[in-house]
Amino acid sequence: GLAGMRPPERRSRAGLWRRKSTITSALLRWYRNCGRDLPWRDEHDPYRVVVSEVMLQQTQVSRVLLKYPIFLKRFPTLEKLARAKASDVIRAWQGMGYNNRALRLRLLAKAVAHRFKGKLPRDVAELQNLPGIGRYTAHAVSCFAFGNQVTVVDTNVARLLSRLFPEKIASKLCKRTDPRRVWEIAEWILPGRRAYEWNQALMDLGATICTARTPKCGVCPLKSYCPSAHCTREQRITGSTREPGRDGLPNRIYRGRVVEVLRNLNGRKSIDVRNLARKIKPDYDGNDGRWFKRLLRSLERDGLVRLRTAASTQRVSLPD
Ligand code: ADE
Repeated sequence: GLAGMRPPERRSRAGLWRRKSTITSALLRWYRNCGRDLPWRDEHDPYRVVVSEVMLQQTQVSRVLLKYPIFLKRFPTLEKLARAKASDVIRAWQGMGYNNRALRLRLLAKAVAHRFKGKLPRDVAELQNLPGIGRYTAHAVSCFAFGNQVTVVDTNVARLLSRLFPEKIASKLCKRTDPRRVWEIAEWILPGRRAYEWNQALMDLGATICTARTPKCGVCPLKSYCPSAHCTREQRITGSTREPGRDGLPNRIYRGRVVEVLRNLNGRKSIDVRNLARKIKPDYDGNDGRWFKRLLRSLERDGLVRLRTAASTQRVSLPD
């Protein structure tokens, strides 16, 4: 349990308000001095913002820095992306992981082209109604592209806020964080008229200092206000969950390998299932057959691969 952590303190309203303004000024000051200089931070074009945010959701900043300009060069406008073939967008997503996102971005572009004449809407609710845009991305685009004063909670921010306000967010029994309470706290602590810098600051702190496995509490600008600072691993909220997989690797790794093999089938457009299996899992054997079929069907359902039976063997390719 959380034994050893400081007990949740009862605070007066004035005490809570003081804690809030101490935290917000300390973090904003840290961000002014130590915030990262990232290309999308001077970018307010809604299409470019949405591309960066979808990429950053599940890919490290260092990788996005390399791939973001290449993707934008290939698909410089939302209209170009809307008209692109699925297989070309999957190819351009090379090196990013979670290839589903490439298809979702393309479908988003198509929907915006049809419903909004190619212009992303500015409101959270309208953004969230679009396919491929969840709560996180809707808030991120609304804030970063249109300057709206809304909170942006991604996994890094949720973990950071859960550590800073465990008594408000985490259940004592299982250290799970309740997303509804995370968003409530995020809205409560959002400093007036500073949403852009504030949200970027939270993300920077979560990505560089308040990391999942080994947070650097010693250099954290919020260490004096954080009840989780210097807690043991057991006491700390990690925010991560276990993924399903095979032989110690999560399925997303195998899914990524399948798509990567298909990207690299120059000329030859499809590959048979057994060859493909051996390429993505060198020790593939009869025991993996059912698991691998299921993996391929999940990729097919997501539109990332096409399965065909030719001359009684199953063959796999990218979609058209
Ligand atoms: N992660 C998600 N959005 C981000 C951003 N705008 N800057 C840095 N990391 C992020």
